[in-house]
Amino acid sequence: MDEALEKRLPKPEELSAMTKESLAAAFAGESQAAEKYLVWAEQAEDEGYPNVAKLFRAISFAESRHARNHLRVMGGISSTADNLAAAFGGESFEVDEMYPAYHEIAKLQGNNQAVRSINYALRSEVDHKGQYTAAREQVVAGKDIADGPVNVCLACGHTIIGDAPDKCPYCGATPELYKTF
Ligand SMILES: [Fe+2]
Ligand SMILES: [Fe+2]
Repeated sequence: MDEALEKRLPKPEELSAMTKESLAAAFAGESQAAEKYLVWAEQAEDEGYPNVAKLFRAISFAESRHARNHLRVMGGISSTADNLAAAFGGESFEVDEMYPAYHEIAKLQGNNQAVRSINYALRSEVDHKGQYTAAREQVVAGKDIADGPVNVCLACGHTIIGDAPDKCPYCGATPELYKTF
């Protein structure tokens, strides 16, 4: 990281319990605001307000910087091997506990679009778990993962290491509806 930037960023420190809770809440709130502003920027574009869209994107970026600073101070940035283990843990919680429970609630209450958005996420998180596990094995062995495209379905978030399939297995989208990284 740029040295001039590094010098200005807050550092991890031993946190008292309430400060830790405050920062965790602020991290969640700033992350949500950043994502919402990006979506609202797209909406502004669609409505013909490109400069409002730019403002949303810029402020989204600022909120994202706030979120990062909170995460740093909370000690939430480790080695890549440890970050991959933590990422696996988060995805596992979503797959094993969170989304199955949310799915049952939405189904019980007859909220079909919620069932759909939950299913899209749940199925993708299973893939993410495997992808993080495989990546961690490489990193622990001192290697990067293989160079190549990673494709994500714009509709449902299906994530595949390699080329986009002819048809998304989760939502049926065609390859042009995939974003390539
Ligand atoms: Fe995920
Ligand atoms: Fe999809």
